[in-house]
Amino acid sequence: MEHTGVVETGSGTHSAVSVEMCSEKFPPDESGYEAWLRYPPVKDPERRAALDSLRRVSCTGDGPCVFSALDEWERAIRGFTGQAVEFLQADARGAGVRFVVDGSLPDEGYRILHDGALTVAGGSGRGLLYGTFAALRELALGTEPAAMAVASAPHIPQRMLNHWDNLVEDPVMGSIERVRGGKTIFDWTDLTRPNPRYRDYARMLASLGLNGLCINNVNATPEILDPAMLPGLKALADTFRKWGVRLCVSIDFASPVTLGGLPTADPLDPRVIAWWVETVDDLYAAIPDFGGFVVKADSEGRPGPGDYGRSHMEGSRCLARALAPHGGTLFWRAFVYGRDLSERTPNERAAGDRANHASYEFMHLDGQFDDNVVLQVKCSATDFQVWEPPHALFGKMPRTRLALEFQLAPEYTGQDIHLAWPGPYWARVLNFGMAPGAGGGCLADIVAGRAGSCLPGAVTAVANTCNARNWFGHLLSGADLYAYGRLAWNPTLAPAEVSREYARLLFGAGPAETVASLLDRSYDAYAQYSSPFGLGFLCEAVHHFDPDPWDNRATAGITGSGLGRDRTAATGSGYAGLYPSGHAAVFADTSTCPPECLLYFHHLPWTHRMHDGRTLIQALYDGCFEGVEAVRGFRETWRGLHGCIDLERWAHVYEKLALQIEHAECWRDLLCRFFLETSGVPDDHGRFDLRSPSPHARVRSGFKQAVEDYRARVERLRARIGARTADGSAIS
Ligand code: GCU
Repeated sequence: MEHTGVVETGSGTHSAVSVEMCSEKFPPDESGYEAWLRYPPVKDPERRAALDSLRRVSCTGDGPCVFSALDEWERAIRGFTGQAVEFLQADARGAGVRFVVDGSLPDEGYRILHDGALTVAGGSGRGLLYGTFAALRELALGTEPAAMAVASAPHIPQRMLNHWDNLVEDPVMGSIERVRGGKTIFDWTDLTRPNPRYRDYARMLASLGLNGLCINNVNATPEILDPAMLPGLKALADTFRKWGVRLCVSIDFASPVTLGGLPTADPLDPRVIAWWVETVDDLYAAIPDFGGFVVKADSEGRPGPGDYGRSHMEGSRCLARALAPHGGTLFWRAFVYGRDLSERTPNERAAGDRANHASYEFMHLDGQFDDNVVLQVKCSATDFQVWEPPHALFGKMPRTRLALEFQLAPEYTGQDIHLAWPGPYWARVLNFGMAPGAGGGCLADIVAGRAGSCLPGAVTAVANTCNARNWFGHLLSGADLYAYGRLAWNPTLAPAEVSREYARLLFGAGPAETVASLLDRSYDAYAQYSSPFGLGFLCEAVHHFDPDPWDNRATAGITGSGLGRDRTAATGSGYAGLYPSGHAAVFADTSTCPPECLLYFHHLPWTHRMHDGRTLIQALYDGCFEGVEAVRGFRETWRGLHGCIDLERWAHVYEKLALQIEHAECWRDLLCRFFLETSGVPDDHGRFDLRSPSPHARVRSGFKQAVEDYRARVERLRARIGARTADGSAIS
């Protein structure tokens, strides 16, 4: 393979790890396809002997998930030892590892212990599968089999992933909405065509304990329910079922019209109700354990019950009742804004703020949805901005099943170019205390049905998966999926533990600490130059990648005298007042409001004094520069890993970091120029001014040109990296 212009040994002066510290120099190239399921050969003789003892296997229990667990065990042991596994009779003596289904354990839970032999027990086939992956993870992390003793069960019952894959490539959004690193992994022209990627993807999901997958865009096309799709959907469901994953699809609310030929999609019309019942029955005849539908209705131009003067509850009921007899779930999305809500909101200011919209659309419907409806709420209220506080709606609907929706697709976080690992942010959201009433409970407890009288819901995330050979476009974006799955299973895991686990599984013990510390710092660095203090929406309006603060003055609340949105109850839109009183008070006061959402809740003068004595504008300038410097540091750190990581994966990340530096500079220069132009307050350090001849200080049109030039360059590089990392078997 070709690595152009980036292979320098470098002095590694900024790196925490020197080449010498790594045990292997230039390990064999890897594409990243195996992700964290690599099972590399173990050379240490003692560890090797311990692993050899795990080759003799016995098993009680059967079913697809049990067979998959054994399959995975065989694959891993062969990888670690180079030897085949020997399967013994269930009651035979001499097994080094016993797989057991034990109904006394929680259904999806497992227990691993060693008492002369290793026992992996699961409460069901799925539990056993999760236990097997957990045991293999421990082995890959270097835990001695004899030291293994762990019992675990998932915190949240439904742990989903939502693909935004298009059945037909969209001219603007591409093959997958908001994913730029590659195209859909699904061959929509014929889903029945065997593709090993489907199985390997199912393995990845199972290894993280994810148990549901919705395969198509929420901006759904009716064709997904075309009877011609059924054999393909069935084939996919058959593959994913073996790994404990139930299939769901997103549907178009207007399907009775667009697909069924009816004159209306009114959810109260008997013909419409009958059409949904028949369509759903056909689906379940082919896929008896089908998971259900995801619906984006009355949102961003999508059809919905509002088109017929019906409420979200009425719209959902028609679909939920078709699914209920089969045990299907309806995930009804709450990402709704733009309607005139002045009748429901306390004042015009509240009605004018998008952050309030979902709350005022849905709060009054609490307790009215059918039992199999889960209201799917984004983790934050305006959209998936880099740092928004957790959505207040989670504290407002204790009698409704709720799903917490994260976004792995790096729509606002630098797409396939920037490293911005959201693990720490997600952990904060999951652990944010929000449950109403006595006893409290955090967001993870609310959606788990473990807070007061809250009902069990789900956690989900918009996927970042694509057909790049490394699955994500940017190799290290795999850390996002990894973190999501691990936190969905156990929201109390420390993010720093998750990043270390991931780094070690991906690159081995030598570079793990260095890679993990880079991941840990990456999100804050990205926020500093793209979304300082929770400002948000400073990007260009279509692709959400390049900076364009000029077009977002109103959204970000930027005026000559200051910036940020006043969302306090006293003088602003009142969104802060929707939180339980403790949080409401903290957010409403500039002296207690966390800095990362200061400008989300407050409109402040440019010269507002920050805690450290700097003016706000100076803190903005400094943050932009610090963020870029941090990224430079990341590249230097990565340079120091040369030789510790195989050349292919090393060069891939190095190239991405080089691009990130350029784009981060682009963000820094545009934002600083914009802040200076708007505020008239110069940088204390004189790092730039409006007269500077440097290309970074050009007038706005000049900046636009600079962004265009950058974009063209990125597209060329994307094509080059893409060509190198594309999956030969992938669908293009
Ligand atoms: C954002 C995103 C859209 C997406 C929408 C949603 O607005 O930009 O691409 O469709 O969220 O979550 O429905």
